[in-house]
Amino acid sequence: MKKKPVIAIDGFSSTGKSSISKQIAKRLDLIHIDTGALYRGITFFALENCLNDQQEIDIKSLFSQLDKIHLEFKPNHEFLELYLNGKNIDKEIREVRVSNNVSIIAKQPEIREFLLDFQRNLAAKGGVIMDGRDIGTVILPNADFKFFVTASPEERARRRFLELKNEGKEVSYDEVFQNLVTRDKIDSEREVAPLKQAEDATLIDNTTLNKEETIELILSHILK
Ligand code: DC
Repeated sequence: MKKKPVIAIDGFSSTGKSSISKQIAKRLDLIHIDTGALYRGITFFALENCLNDQQEIDIKSLFSQLDKIHLEFKPNHEFLELYLNGKNIDKEIREVRVSNNVSIIAKQPEIREFLLDFQRNLAAKGGVIMDGRDIGTVILPNADFKFFVTASPEERARRRFLELKNEGKEVSYDEVFQNLVTRDKIDSEREVAPLKQAEDATLIDNTTLNKEETIELILSHILK
């Protein structure tokens, strides 16, 4: 039997990467791994266990407790959900406090090293679509297909703003836009594994495409 492919999807936040990857996984019968969830899981652990007197994350304390972090993806309904030390934290990792702190955690080389083999092992048997920021460049440089998804910052902020509004969150467009630009900057300028397009990745700009159109475009590259 032909080995199932390994697909790397990287790109900016609020491009719909994760939900697009989920749908492609369904269509091609692959496992979808959202690697952002892992950085969020560690951030959640830090917020619960490593705060200093000012209620900020103490990075040294986090580094000294990495051996206490056991992350696992387990199937729940049709998708994988993240567990931390046996507890389902799939909802908690989407909290605003986690979103606000995750870039700082994700830029630490120690944390990226901690998650490196874990991510590679998940893809070792093939049949995986993995989304993140450094999948095509660092984690899976030999992936069968690589895509880099982008859209204009204004359009990404608009999507995120509508998403938050639909969830009943009180935010302004300007706040969302600023948050997104700051996150892009931290993710793109960090020293280790910055967000960038792999040389052999296909660029997908979905500024004027909806989710379905983006999925079809990516599938057309994979299936041709
Ligand atoms: O995709 P997301 O918004 O859930 O990602 C959360 C954070 O983790 C974001 O700041 C980028 C970072 N991240 C990363 O540095 N490398 C990855 N492979 C995935 C996410």
